[in-house]
Amino acid sequence: MERASNREPMQDVLSAAVIGHPIRHSKSPLIHNFWLKNHGLPGLYSAFDVAPSDLASFMDLAPRLGLAGFNVTIPHKEAVASLVSEMTPAAAQAGVVNTVVVRPDGSTLGDSTDGFGFLANLDDATQWSAADAHVAMIGAGGAARSVVAALLDAGASKIVLSNRTAAKAEALRMLDPARVETAPWPPTPEFFDRASLLVNASSLGMAGGPDWRWELPKLQPGTVATDLIYAPLETPFLKAAAASGARCVDGLGMLLHQAAPGFEQWFGLRPEVTGELRELVLDRKGWLP
Ligand code: ATR
Repeated sequence: MERASNREPMQDVLSAAVIGHPIRHSKSPLIHNFWLKNHGLPGLYSAFDVAPSDLASFMDLAPRLGLAGFNVTIPHKEAVASLVSEMTPAAAQAGVVNTVVVRPDGSTLGDSTDGFGFLANLDDATQWSAADAHVAMIGAGGAARSVVAALLDAGASKIVLSNRTAAKAEALRMLDPARVETAPWPPTPEFFDRASLLVNASSLGMAGGPDWRWELPKLQPGTVATDLIYAPLETPFLKAAAASGARCVDGLGMLLHQAAPGFEQWFGLRPEVTGELRELVLDRKGWLP
C-alpha cells in the first residue's frame, strides 16, 4: 500500500479512527473493529478526542499517522467539510462530512454516508424503495438534510416537511422546490395519513430529549415508519406509528449501514450488517471496555 511520500509506507497495518469531542459514546470503534476481526484483517480502528481548536492540525497530521481515513462526529461534521481537499456529491449536498478517505498522496476526500445508511436500512428491513414515494418527515436539522438529499437522489416524488422552526424546513425545500413541500407545525393528521413513508428526523423522543406528543391517525396499508433515533430503540414515534398500522424500522440499522462505505474504502471490502453486530452494539453503551 502506498501512502504519503514524506514518510515510510505502512505496509501491513490498516488503520482508521473516529474523531469527535467528546468521543467516549461513539459506537464506531465497536462496529469497525467487529468487521476487522470478522474478516481477519490486520488493522485497528481507534478513537481520538479532537478539540475544535486542534481540528486543522489533526487533518494535516492524518496522512502522516498512516490513517487510511476516519469518521467524523459531533461537533466536527461541518468544519471538516471546509477542510477536506474534495467532497463527494452527497457530502456537498448535505454540507457535512462524516467519512474521510486519506488518499496515497495525502489529499482527503470527504463523504456523507448518512443518507446511504438511511436507504440501505429501509431496503434491508423491508425492501422499501424510494422510487415515486411520498414521504412525510418531522424535523429539518442536519440529519434531515442528508436524508432528504438521499431520498431525492433515489427518486422520491414528494417529500413533505413539518418542523418547529419553519425557516429550516423552507431551507431544505430549496434542495428541490418541485418535489419538497413544507407543512404546518405541529403536524396534522393529513400530514401522516397520505404518505407511504413516515420519518422522525427530529430529536423528539430521544432518551433524555424532548417528548414526542402525538398519536397518529389510521395509516394507509403498507405505510413504513422509521426513526433516526436509536436510543431508545423503540421510540415513542415508532410506538405510535405501529399502533396506527405502520411497519416500523428502528434507527440502529441506519447507524450500522452508514459505517459500511467508509470501511470498504479504507479496508478494501464491503462488510455486512448482521444480527450479531446489532446485538453487540445494543449491548454496549460506548466503545470503552
Ligand atoms: P441533527 O443533527 O440530529 O439533525 P439538529 O440539526 O439539532 O440535530 O436538529 C434537531 C431537530 O429536532 C430539528 O428539526 C429541531 O427543530 P428546530 O429546527 O425547530 O430546532 C427538532 N427539535 C429539537 N427539539 C425540539 C422540540 N422541543 N420540539 C420540536 N422540535 C424539536
